Amino acid sequence: MNNPPKLFIPGPTEVTKDVLESFSTAQIGHRTPEFSELMKFIVNGVQKVLYTKNRIYLASNPATALWEMSLTNSVKKGVLHAVNGAFSNKWVSISNSLGLKNKKIDFEWGNGVDVNEVDKLLSTGNYDVFAMVHNETSTGTQSNLEEISNLLINKYPDIIWLVDAVSSMAGTKIEVDKLGIDYIFSSLQKAWGLPAGFSIFSVSDRFRKVSNSIERKGYYFDLNIYDKYYDKMQTPSTPSIAHMYGMKYILEQINLEGIGNRWLRHMKMAEFTRKWALDRGQTIFTQSGCESNTMTCICNDRNWDINKINEILLSKGYRMDRGYGKLRFKAFRIAHMGNVTYKMLKEYLDVFDKVLKGLNK
Ligand SMILES: Cc1ncc(COP(=O)(O)O)c(C=O)c1O
Repeated sequence: MNNPPKLFIPGPTEVTKDVLESFSTAQIGHRTPEFSELMKFIVNGVQKVLYTKNRIYLASNPATALWEMSLTNSVKKGVLHAVNGAFSNKWVSISNSLGLKNKKIDFEWGNGVDVNEVDKLLSTGNYDVFAMVHNETSTGTQSNLEEISNLLINKYPDIIWLVDAVSSMAGTKIEVDKLGIDYIFSSLQKAWGLPAGFSIFSVSDRFRKVSNSIERKGYYFDLNIYDKYYDKMQTPSTPSIAHMYGMKYILEQINLEGIGNRWLRHMKMAEFTRKWALDRGQTIFTQSGCESNTMTCICNDRNWDINKINEILLSKGYRMDRGYGKLRFKAFRIAHMGNVTYKMLKEYLDVFDKVLKGLNK
C-alpha cells in the first residue's frame, strides 16, 4: 500500500513519520553496556510516566502474553476478574486455559467496574488476586482506579492487584505507587504511539515475592528470569531493539511536551470528540463518569450508514472504527491518543462531517 490510511482506530494507532524514523537505527548487542544504557533510559522514563519506583520490564511480545504472565506469577488460591467488555473477558479465558480457579463479575458493557461488587466477592476470601482492565478498549470505558485502590488498601491489603492499562497507559495519568498497583502493563501500539509487537510492565516488590514462591511457571513467563537479567539492565532474550529506540524517542517527546500537557491534550481531545458526537445528535455509549481519555465510543442512535462512511473515509485516506464485536455498527469508536494531536483530530472530524453532509446526515 503506497499511501496507507491515517489511523483513527483504537490500535494500532497512527505512527507519525518521525516516530517511524526512530526505528531506523543500527542494531546493538543486547549484552553490551550501550544496551544497558538504553534500557536504563527507558526504565527511568517509564517510571516517571507511571509515577512509580517499581521495576519496569521490557517484553518483545504483545500484551496478550502479559495477561498470561501476570496470572502464572501470582495466582495461588484464585483470581477474581472484573469483566466489562471484550478484553477483560479474554483475560478470563486465559485463566481458564491455565486451569486457574477464577470467578468473573460481569458488568454491562459500557459500565465501569463497580467497587461494591468487587468488595462483595473479595469478602468471600476465595481469591488472592484481583484483575481488571483500566480502559476497556471495546467500549471506551475507563474505570475508576482510586475507588478500587481505596478498597484494596483499606480492606484487602494482601490481594495482588493486576491492571491491564493497554489502551490508557501514556494517555492518561496513572499514579502506580500511590494507587498500589502490583502489576500493570501495556503494549506500545496504543497511547504510546509506537508500532505493535512490544510491551512494558511495572511490578511491585510484593508481586515479585509472590512470584518467587510459585513453581512451574515455565521459562519465558518466569518473572525470576526477568529479574536475573534486570540486575544487569538486560532482557532475558534478544528483544526488538528497534522498539527500544522508538520508546526512547517517545519518552523524549513526552519530556518535550511535558507530562502534564500530555494528560491535558488527551483530556481535551476526548472532550472535543464527545461534544462533536453530541452536536450531531448521537450519544456517548459509555456510562457517564467513565468516559475514556484516549478514545470515544459513540452510540449510533442516528443510524448512520457506518459501512458507507467507512468506505468514503478510506477513499479519502482515513481508517475509521466500525464498532467492536457485538457493537459493530451500533457503537463506533474514535481513537484520540498517542501521536494524535488536536489538529489531526479536528482534520479527521472535519472530513467526517463532509462525508456526513454528502450522505445528507
Ligand atoms: C484492553 C486490551 N488488553 C489487551 C489487548 C491485547 O493487546 P495485544 O494486541 O498487544 O496483545 C488489547 C488489544 O487491543 C486491549 O485493547
